[in-house]
Amino acid sequence: MFVKHLLPAVVAIGSVAAQTTCTVSSTSTVNSQADATKLANCDVVKGSILIGTNTGARIDISGPREITGDLEVLNNGVLETFTSDDLEKIGGAFTMRNVTLLTALDFEKLTSVRTLSWQSLNRVATLTLGPISQAEEVTISDTFLDTLDGIDLESVRKLDINNNMRLQTFTTQLKDLSDNLNIQANGIGLNVSFPNLVWIANMTIANVTDFSVPSLEVVNGSARFDSNYFESFSAPNLTHTESGDISFVGNGELKNMTFPKLTSIGGGLLIANNTGLDTVDFFPELETIGGAVKLRGNFTEVDFPALEDVKGAFDVSSTADISSSCDNLLQKAPQNQGGDGRIQGTFTCTALNENANEDTDSDPNGDGNVDGSGGDGGSGAAGVTFNAALFGLVGIAALASAL
Ligand SMILES: *[C@@H]1O[C@H](CO)[C@@H](O)[C@H](O)[C@H]1NC(C)=O
Ligand SMILES: *[C@@H]1O[C@H](CO)[C@@H](O)[C@H](O)[C@H]1NC(C)=O
Ligand SMILES: *[C@@H]1O[C@H](CO)[C@@H](O)[C@H](O)[C@H]1NC(C)=O
Ligand SMILES: *[C@@H]1O[C@H](CO)[C@@H](O)[C@H](O)[C@H]1NC(C)=O
Ligand SMILES: *[C@@H]1O[C@H](CO)[C@@H](O)[C@H](O)[C@H]1NC(C)=O
Ligand SMILES: *[C@@H]1O[C@H](CO)[C@@H](O)[C@H](O)[C@H]1NC(C)=O
Ligand SMILES: *[C@@H]1O[C@H](CO)[C@@H](O)[C@H](O)[C@H]1NC(C)=O
Ligand SMILES: *[C@@H]1O[C@H](CO)[C@@H](O)[C@H](O)[C@H]1NC(C)=O
Ligand SMILES: *[C@@H]1O[C@H](CO)[C@@H](O)[C@H](O)[C@H]1NC(C)=O
Repeated sequence: MFVKHLLPAVVAIGSVAAQTTCTVSSTSTVNSQADATKLANCDVVKGSILIGTNTGARIDISGPREITGDLEVLNNGVLETFTSDDLEKIGGAFTMRNVTLLTALDFEKLTSVRTLSWQSLNRVATLTLGPISQAEEVTISDTFLDTLDGIDLESVRKLDINNNMRLQTFTTQLKDLSDNLNIQANGIGLNVSFPNLVWIANMTIANVTDFSVPSLEVVNGSARFDSNYFESFSAPNLTHTESGDISFVGNGELKNMTFPKLTSIGGGLLIANNTGLDTVDFFPELETIGGAVKLRGNFTEVDFPALEDVKGAFDVSSTADISSSCDNLLQKAPQNQGGDGRIQGTFTCTALNENANEDTDSDPNGDGNVDGSGGDGGSGAAGVTFNAALFGLVGIAALASAL
């Protein structure tokens, strides 16, 4: 029983009122408000608290300022209101999963958790938090929240916001993120804004209507944008990515992008099936690309004016006539293809390829040869070659070094 594990110990702190530390067994279960009230005289709970599955509609765990372990609510179908007037810190994880009737969550002083993991809280619409300014990992998935204003971190390792169908805005003061940001499958119309973000290790952004990173300077790993609804994308301060890829795939509304300061991409560049994008001329300073370049779309113009060194292949295919861009780009092709060698891998450029948007795979083996054949690898390869020939156009499909 819960109470048996509660071993209060009184610790004096200077001249201030006595502080009570209560040690609970590694995980103690609160099954009722009466159990929760037994904690009310503890300032610090040493151990973890599990809220049981049959608690009744209300649990108030006011009293403790700190729980050193975890606070968990799992598979609870009765809890509607979960509150604490005093809790400031959870040393471990604050996990809530499958708490289907929970509507109000009020932890007005909570500012610090190690991990926040909330999943399947289908009714939670309002949230009162400290706000939380310290956390290493945050996952918020499948909730009814329309804002995440209670979460305002400056620094975090992982942030995963998915399947929150009502979420309309997500703005945070975050300055850096050291592992991965995932935002996807939330409600249509979600605007995401990171006004102070300076560097981020990796990000995957999908199904977002507006995305703003005005201060972003460095992506250490990869940045991936899939199936978003924004019409323009801007990274005004981004100077380089250290190791990973940049990719934009299937962003059907995208019309223009701006990368005025981007000078190098550590990995590859993939831009595919963004059918509204008709020019790729937004990399005025881009000099080096550590991987391959693969571009597929409805482009009429492709221009990389500053390009000095592409370690991998450079492979462009468009539904439209980009033959003059192909001619220009050919000047940078490997020497055995007639260029000056600034592109080290195979250079391929095809126009009027009806199926250009079908091929959205990134370089499968990372060897810099997006397509081993020198043609248009992946699906529809035969059709591509055939169409190009049929229209008698373009075909700077240099096969030189392939095979
Ligand atoms: C969610 O919790 C309910 C009890 O409230 C349980 O019956 C159900 O099996 C749980 N669902 C999952 C996927 O664990
Ligand atoms: C990412 O790059 C920034 C700027 O170069 C650096 O300060 C930071 O430590 C890097 N982070 C990781 C996780 O590599
Ligand atoms: C989200 O961004 C779009 C496009 O920038 C804008 O039209 C819309 O009003 C924004 N919505 C909200 C809720 O801010
Ligand atoms: C959301 O994005 C994913 C790609 O991550 C895509 O498969 C899915 O179709 C998108 N959903 C909508 C509604 O656009
Ligand atoms: C962009 O970078 C410059 C130079 O590092 C800096 O002065 C400026 O404040 C940055 N802009 C934003 C919006 O962060
Ligand atoms: C994120 O980026 C770092 C480089 O900063 C890389 O080492 C790490 O594997 C990446 N993590 C994920 C989940 O992609
Ligand atoms: C291309 O993007 C559109 C959305 O703009 C999507 O419906 C279609 O399935 C995508 N095609 C491929 C091959 O990914
Ligand atoms: C391109 O995007 C910028 C904002 O980044 C915007 O001011 C401009 O009007 C856009 N141009 C077109 C043609 O959409
Ligand atoms: C892109 O090209 C395809 C194939 O020619 C065409 O069906 C589609 O309408 C074009 N989309 C746009 C937005 O121009």
